[in-house]
Amino acid sequence: MTKQQPTLLVTGGAGFIGSNFIHYYLEKYPDTRLLNIDKLTYAGSTDNVREVETLENYHFIHGDITDEVLVGDIFTDYDITGVIHFAAESHVDRSIKDAKAFVASNVFGTLTLLQAARKDWENKGVLSKRRFHHISTDEVYGSLGETGAFSESTPYDPRNPYSASKASANMFVKSFGHTYGMNVVISSSSNNYGPRQHAEKLIPTVIQKALAGEQIPIYGDGKNVRDWLYVADHCSALDTIYHQGNPLETYNVGGGNEKTNIDMAGEICTILDELVPQYRTIESYKDLITFTTDRKGHDRRYAVDDRKLRNALGWKPTEDFHSGLRKTVEWYVNQWKARPVH
Ligand SMILES: NC(=O)c1ccc[n+]([C@@H]2O[C@H](COP(=O)([O-])OP(=O)(O)OC[C@H]3O[C@@H](n4cnc5c(N)ncnc54)[C@H](O)[C@@H]3O)[C@@H](O)[C@H]2O)c1
Repeated sequence: MTKQQPTLLVTGGAGFIGSNFIHYYLEKYPDTRLLNIDKLTYAGSTDNVREVETLENYHFIHGDITDEVLVGDIFTDYDITGVIHFAAESHVDRSIKDAKAFVASNVFGTLTLLQAARKDWENKGVLSKRRFHHISTDEVYGSLGETGAFSESTPYDPRNPYSASKASANMFVKSFGHTYGMNVVISSSSNNYGPRQHAEKLIPTVIQKALAGEQIPIYGDGKNVRDWLYVADHCSALDTIYHQGNPLETYNVGGGNEKTNIDMAGEICTILDELVPQYRTIESYKDLITFTTDRKGHDRRYAVDDRKLRNALGWKPTEDFHSGLRKTVEWYVNQWKARPVH
């Protein structure tokens, strides 16, 4: 890819949502020049972007967003017209064991990008025109009781080190909007599901354990509630927010699908019973579900009110929970079948 032409910078594009976004974006806007910087932590893989890597207008940089020199050089070498920032440590359980990497990548990494963008865009006199979009999470709002939903004005109340690092990053992003007049926007989504998610997360874990005939671990009583958003719908929401969202605003993105973890696992097992009865040695994959010691500080319920995005910007998801979950399970089953040994 030749340098000094208008280029969109995506961070963390070898991870779950970032790689889905790159596929979505390059298919929808095939003329966009897109630069993907990713450190390739345990959670990132170039396999996730294999289908786009030969495109002329796509370029991958294996690098760390906390590397100030590298990030500064990217802005000097390329004409970065916008940033869509996914790169982060993303697994709550790991943050509970050790939060340092979360502060480094999620907070310092975000600050490093903000500073480099600000410097370059100020020099070019385009600071208020070029967009910096931070991808955040509904977890920054804390935990809910049986009813209600987080709105964009719900005060931050992070309950675990991961969500604390994301709330902190959000604050820095907002502060750069207020202090320097940067054109920043934040989207806070609920739990994503779909293809290319790391095996450590709930849905891939349930599917893979079931197919392997191993116990399917569910935390606590399984009654924790999450709102589930199909990743392709998240990508279309990000496209909408990146292009149409107002500067300094936050937009919640939800799937409108609240499920307890135990119901979610049960639905996956029902789909697997139908799709792949041949790997089953028991009557139903559901028989493999087992309850384990609860996660420390396990937030009970998340739900987002995303009427601002739906009403003001006209976004709506295309998948309902059943169609999205079926597509997801089919994708993992196909991956499983394609494995050389199982
Ligand atoms: N997965 C969800 O359900 C969810 C929900 C809401 C918000 N988010 C947010 O969306 C973003 C993407 O989440 P995901 O689930 O795709 O995460 P992921 O863990 O699958 O991917 C993160 C990617 O970032 C890269 N990365 C991490 N630290 C880096 C660094 N210092 N420099 C460069 N690259 C680095 C990793 O290598 C990986 O490819 C995150 O910011 C996360 O907080 C995720």
